[in-house]
Amino acid sequence: KKEIGVGLLGMGTVGRGVYRILTDNRAGIEEKVGVPIKIKKILVRDPAKDRGLALSEGLLTTNVNELLDDPEIDIIVEVLGGVDQALEYALSALGKGKSLVTANKDMIALHGKKLFAAADANSRDLFFEASVAGGIPIITPLKECLAANRITQLIGIINGTTNYMLSRMSKEGLGFQEALCEAQSLGYAEADPSSDVEGYDAARKLTILASIAFNTRLRLDQVFVEGITRVTAEDIAYAANLNYTVKLLAIARESSDGIEARVHPALLPKNHPLAAVNDVYNAIFVTGDAVGDVMFFGRGAGELPTASAVAADVMSAARNLVNNVPGMIGCTCFEEKRVKPMGL
Ligand code: NDP
Ligand code: HSE
Repeated sequence: KKEIGVGLLGMGTVGRGVYRILTDNRAGIEEKVGVPIKIKKILVRDPAKDRGLALSEGLLTTNVNELLDDPEIDIIVEVLGGVDQALEYALSALGKGKSLVTANKDMIALHGKKLFAAADANSRDLFFEASVAGGIPIITPLKECLAANRITQLIGIINGTTNYMLSRMSKEGLGFQEALCEAQSLGYAEADPSSDVEGYDAARKLTILASIAFNTRLRLDQVFVEGITRVTAEDIAYAANLNYTVKLLAIARESSDGIEARVHPALLPKNHPLAAVNDVYNAIFVTGDAVGDVMFFGRGAGELPTASAVAADVMSAARNLVNNVPGMIGCTCFEEKRVKPMGL
């Protein structure tokens, strides 16, 4: 292949970042992949919207078939959000022999099994590093670098919106709504922010991480979920007086009783390493029987941090196409084997 063509589904916060990285870092990316990567078409709802970028004529379209049926497009990047439409396009892309990169944790958490089957059936890649913890490498490390371990526990702050809100409520005494508006204006929140503040975004991400870490399939209905909607600036101030900080934690543990998974606000002593993870930063502690404790830390949401993970996935998929080995790194997770919810 002389060039890898990319079709971008969506040009919102993440899509814009992907466009910027693949354009601004084009030379370095080509050097690493071996051939140029070119964005051929971008699907949006409203082509007239100002995107703050100098886009070439005809690059934006509202017709998805212009991407899915274009033989020059090798990789589809799904950064639309939502589930049903995204799933339809993702399955269609794989069915038409295109590799797929997505940042969509809702789609992976709910339909990962179906998507992996479609990728396998068509010998194409399906990469989703950005779906958990934005710019932090966590999916690939769990799948590859830590693969030899028996993982016993994951503890994470994996929702940037709520961590940002709790930090602002704690440091500036902001009210819940004011803090949420700030997170929304920074592009951290989901289109429907109730999934952030009610804990479901973190729970979906936890099902993805735990499924990979424990090599099984954890479903959303097996996770205990409580968000931060009842946490007030006063609660945070009381906790601070007692030397605690309030964090929304996502926890998954495997013991002889089975797998326990939960998301809820927790009081952390101020000297706990996770207590120092503020603003849009995320962190995940992983404990493996061989490696011991490992902590991953970085920006968990936002345009460029998230796009950093998406663009790296595009490069991996492109390299596999150039070397004619797409779909070779299979994923054995998402097969339900031994999840025993703890009845929380
Ligand atoms: P945005 O809402 O900012 O952008 C969505 C984009 O998709 C827009 O360009 C929109 O078009 C387009 N779009 C949506 N539905 C359709 C449709 N039916 N047909 C055509 N175009 C459509 O979302 P984000 O960029 O914030 O998020 C994208 C995905 O990335 C989500 O799955 C999200 O969960 C995930 N994600 C987001 C992170 C973040 O920090 N924002 C971090 C990690 C993951 P138009 O612009 O014309 O309205
Ligand atoms: N809304 C999500 C968050 C985006 O705040 O973490 C990143 O997945």
